[in-house]
Amino acid sequence: MEEKARFAVGIDVGTNFVRTVLGTVKGEEVSVIGYGEVPTEGMRRGVVKELVPPAKAIDECLAKVEGMSGVKVDRANVGINGAHIGSVKIDGMIAVGVAEHEINEDDIVRIADTAIAGKVPANRETLALVPYEYILDGQGGIREPLGMHGARLELRANVVSALTPDCENLRKVCESAAIEPHGPFEPGVVAAARAVTNSSQRENGVGVVDMGGATTSLAIFDEGELQFVGVIPIGSNDVTKDLATVLATIPDVAEEIKVRFVSAVKGETDRDIVVKRGREEFRFKRKDVEDVVEARLEEIFEGIRKMLTAAGYDRRLPEGLVLCGGGAKLRNIDMFARKQVELAARIAKPSGIIGVSEDILKPEYATAIGLMLGDNERASIDSFDGNNKAKKKQKKPKEGSLFSRIAKLFK
Ligand SMILES: Nc1ncnc2c1ncn2[C@@H]1O[C@H](COP(=O)(O)OP(=O)(O)OP(=O)(O)O)[C@@H](O)[C@H]1O
Ligand SMILES: [Mg+2]
Repeated sequence: MEEKARFAVGIDVGTNFVRTVLGTVKGEEVSVIGYGEVPTEGMRRGVVKELVPPAKAIDECLAKVEGMSGVKVDRANVGINGAHIGSVKIDGMIAVGVAEHEINEDDIVRIADTAIAGKVPANRETLALVPYEYILDGQGGIREPLGMHGARLELRANVVSALTPDCENLRKVCESAAIEPHGPFEPGVVAAARAVTNSSQRENGVGVVDMGGATTSLAIFDEGELQFVGVIPIGSNDVTKDLATVLATIPDVAEEIKVRFVSAVKGETDRDIVVKRGREEFRFKRKDVEDVVEARLEEIFEGIRKMLTAAGYDRRLPEGLVLCGGGAKLRNIDMFARKQVELAARIAKPSGIIGVSEDILKPEYATAIGLMLGDNERASIDSFDGNNKAKKKQKKPKEGSLFSRIAKLFK
């Protein structure tokens, strides 16, 4: 019998744009059949500041996607963003009984609860738990302890969390837009990693940098697992604002300068920059523009470097950085990144999907595509509620999926 296709949806609620990607999944194949973007208001630095405008933007965006695909969307993997998102390394130990005891699912849930207890403050919501290794009676490096024998079980893991009020507000926005989030919100940059890195890069060590309008986020993967996620509240809109302020021009002209004329590498040419508005002509000295851009980009990459250092990965990522988000479209930003953080750097080109127009194979769609791919993974492993408790019986998770082991924990 032919396998039935199912749908997967990712919604990226950004500061500048809401982006949605809808795919159909048949076996291993994911084809995109609908996508769209709509400018957002009511978001500041990645977090919800007003409830109505972002909900309206999601509504409009879904109308586009539904128009394109003919599919009504009521559930999606929804991304979360903002400097409140963070990850911490945790560990825990439990006694599971006598030496003959066989590790069961209750033990797995209990060790996760014990490890998390007290590590995530009461005003934060746990978004994901990423186990690195289980240690059974002192024997480390165990990835799957279920069914093994032992008396003492230890866990080393990473827990990703976000401020509860910011999650609540995003939930309200989804509710107004009649969207049920499929499980906990996922940090946008973590989702983007699915679309712009492969498993061997995540095994070797890679950093994904989402250069958004108002935020810059970093997700570090090593040994196949998420090691760190962090967000700084500075983004590409700040480059535009600086240009408008220093050059004493309007933001619209500043944006055109940035998008059309700026290179992150200085001194390629010394021709003046000329922007036209109707009959009016605005002329700017190339050096003035480049100095402004350089100063802000340096600040952004210093922030990235601080996060790399905090995570213990400064100059220690063999696969380098993959840059996504609209800000990654600034000309030569990869060269600038390479120089600033002393790592390889490339501009993301989303992959892992078929049947799409070139329209979405762009850095700014990486998050929405990754969320959609994540929705598919979640569909095959089950949905969670906000407290990470499973609602339904799960099917066996796909090996190697980012969520497989988390899913097992909360079965
Ligand atoms: N060609 C380009 N060159 C330089 N910058 C660009 C280009 N195209 C878009 N941008 C910038 O990308 C930014 C928007 O990026 P993006 O759409 O990823 O943001 P967002 O997801 O809405 O915001 P955030 O992730 O911070 O919440 C804007 O600042 C815009 O000026
Ligand atoms: Mg974004």
